[in-house]
Amino acid sequence: MSDIRPPEGAPIRSAQREGGPVTAIVLVGGGGHCQSCMAVLQSAGREIAGVIDVRRGVAPPGTVWLGDDAWLDTNAARDFVYLVSVGLNRVGPRRAAIYEAILQRGLSLATAVASSAVVAPGASIGPGTIVMHQAVVNAGARIGANCIVNTAAIVEHGAVLGDHCHAAPGSIVNGDAQVGSGSMIGAGAVLLPGTRIGANVMVGAGCVVTRDLLEDGTTWAGAPARKLS
Ligand SMILES: CC(C)(COP(=O)(O)OP(=O)(O)OC[C@H]1O[C@@H](n2cnc3c(N)ncnc32)[C@H](O)[C@@H]1OP(=O)(O)O)[C@@H](O)C(=O)NCCC(=O)NCCS
Repeated sequence: MSDIRPPEGAPIRSAQREGGPVTAIVLVGGGGHCQSCMAVLQSAGREIAGVIDVRRGVAPPGTVWLGDDAWLDTNAARDFVYLVSVGLNRVGPRRAAIYEAILQRGLSLATAVASSAVVAPGASIGPGTIVMHQAVVNAGARIGANCIVNTAAIVEHGAVLGDHCHAAPGSIVNGDAQVGSGSMIGAGAVLLPGTRIGANVMVGAGCVVTRDLLEDGTTWAGAPARKLS
């Protein structure tokens, strides 16, 4: 057991009350994106148990720091579900690694949808994914695990985001477009209908993708998209 204990008076409660479902959420990562996640969860009436962060004591106002990663190995950890709340400003393995660490411990992921977001009937959202304020996931869209559909992003009908993707604020993934796992669509970027993006591809802010960008791990910017690296 970790030597790190929740601070005295921490509002940590078991969600497994009277045999009910485990619903209270522990956020993993206590930075700026965590604050946005909290706003989403609160809007949806979800209970936040606290925050895990490798930085001692780091948690946004309004919640508590529970401990570092070692907290996931405590008995208390089984009473909660988890959401990776580390932000992502460009493509990188960090969010996926945290997600895997949660799964490896046999713990469960939450999904979260803001009260102001729209997820159409027939759309699907994977475990660990958050759909933030004003975002739209339209009919038949499929969002993988551990994704961020950020503020006011639009994922149109039939579009697909693989696991660990991030559609940044105001980005538009048009109908039937496909985004490979680990990729990020920058703020305000637009994928034209049916375009396909490889894995771990970075589409820069404001980029307009007019054709398939299938080379994994590449970075693109501009309108139309040009390859930066
Ligand atoms: C595309 C991006 C990843 C490139 O980052 P980078 O590899 O560090 O690139 P640099 O900043 O060194 O810029 C390289 C060149 O591309 C240009 N460039 C960078 N980003 C650009 C963009 N979004 N659109 C157009 N041109 C861009 C730069 O002006 C520079 O041009 P130059 O060589 O003529 O001077 C980054 O600029 C970006 O757009 N990130 C998205 C951020 C975002 O949406 N965050 C959401 C947070 S929730």
